[in-house]
Amino acid sequence: MRHKIAIFASGNGSNFGALADACLDGTIRDTEVALCVCDKPGAYVETRAREKGVKLLSFSPKDYAGKRDFERMIADRLDEEGVELVCLAGYMRIIGEELLQRYGGRMINIHPALLPAFKGPHAIQDSFDYGVKVFGVTIHYVDNTVDGGKIISQQAVPYDGDEVDELETMIHAAEHQLFPATVDRLLNK
Ligand code: GRF
Repeated sequence: MRHKIAIFASGNGSNFGALADACLDGTIRDTEVALCVCDKPGAYVETRAREKGVKLLSFSPKDYAGKRDFERMIADRLDEEGVELVCLAGYMRIIGEELLQRYGGRMINIHPALLPAFKGPHAIQDSFDYGVKVFGVTIHYVDNTVDGGKIISQQAVPYDGDEVDELETMIHAAEHQLFPATVDRLLNK
């Protein structure tokens, strides 16, 4: 049976693109992206989803009474689509109890630093400002802590230059390689 994944994103969606392409070209074996979930209507990831022919669930959290309500709506849709693994790829929202109860252990996140160092939303800039020389990328399970779940895989990105843009490009390139490889390994062990 083909595996089905969902990808949650809030912005640009380059990791969404990398995962979707990897499903199409077989880097992630026997898998399709069943759903893209976006909490920022109009974000560029939505254009990418349409271009790749991936079903899109776009919603505004403010249209719901609270997190539990929109997470219930998302989890119901994940159930309907038969999603096996949820990949958070720049989803800028803390996952709440409803999704954790229903998809905990089947939900992973990508973070642009070598955790447990440099948690939070500005990891690349924070590590650059700190003077780090070995940067990197982490894929981890999602739990009720911020960037704190059990680590699945990591890739180091050595950099000793002074251009944060250049560093960012290198880290994204590492992400686009590590995320598909990790998803393939989890689904096709
Ligand atoms: C990535 O750097 C990811 O590690 C972080 O958010 C960023 C998303 O980038 N969680 P993109 O939207 O996939 O281009």
